[in-house]
Amino acid sequence: MDNQEIFPRHIAIIMDGNGRWAQKRLLPRKAGHAVGSETFRSVADYLNLHTKVEYLTVYAFSTENWSRPKDEVDEIMRLLRKYMDEACRTLLEKNVKLHFLGDLSIFPEDVRREMEDIHALSEKATGLHINVCVNYGGRNEIVNAVRAMAREGYDMTKVTEEEITAHLYTVGQPDPDMIIRTGAEKRLSNFLMWQSSYAELYFTDTLWPDFSGKDIEEALAWFRGRKRRFGGV
Ligand code: IPE
Ligand code: IPE
Ligand code: MG
Repeated sequence: MDNQEIFPRHIAIIMDGNGRWAQKRLLPRKAGHAVGSETFRSVADYLNLHTKVEYLTVYAFSTENWSRPKDEVDEIMRLLRKYMDEACRTLLEKNVKLHFLGDLSIFPEDVRREMEDIHALSEKATGLHINVCVNYGGRNEIVNAVRAMAREGYDMTKVTEEEITAHLYTVGQPDPDMIIRTGAEKRLSNFLMWQSSYAELYFTDTLWPDFSGKDIEEALAWFRGRKRRFGGV
């Protein structure tokens, strides 16, 4: 196979650096989130139209991000709802699948219903599968999986890795092959703690609002140069 044709099946992105992008411009942090949400749209479109990547999982809001100032949290929630409304209108045309992952029980009833509608509406799409992680925490996901299994009557003394995997928010999806983190920090910040076991980790100083198709291409080129061993030789 032509090396240029090797794509990660699943890319996950920690979209970090919105606040610093805005602060550098003497703008409120909120302005960085607005531009960052546009970056997300264009990166998703780029992957859908120009690559063979099958899954894109983005970290939009963590279980820890509630500790931010209320006006910043409100703005992120406003942008989420705006994106959801827009998705309802454009999903079918774009042929993308869209799931919201995280502890969604925290959201108001109407938001949860819209998330479910989007999920159902896009189920038959054959293009890129996008997961937007909101109120997501990797540890919270594992705890919720274990609790669900206990409720379902599993014998917890015989639990297997496959059974835990099947109770995560990402059930049925392949693990991420590459995790990209923008914004210069080199940590996972509670993202995909279980699924990241063998992911290639790509860190870039680029702040998320500045991330573009060119940056995606650089990350894909770097990925092609990795030798994945999965513990073998
Ligand atoms: C990432 O950007 C977006 C969210 C966490 C919601 P930040 O808001 O964390 O940006 P920095 O890291 O403060 O620059
Ligand atoms: C991770 O970024 C969460 C998201 C991108 C949604 P943070 O900015 O919250 O992570 P820390 O606090 O720098 O580890
Ligand atoms: Mg940050």
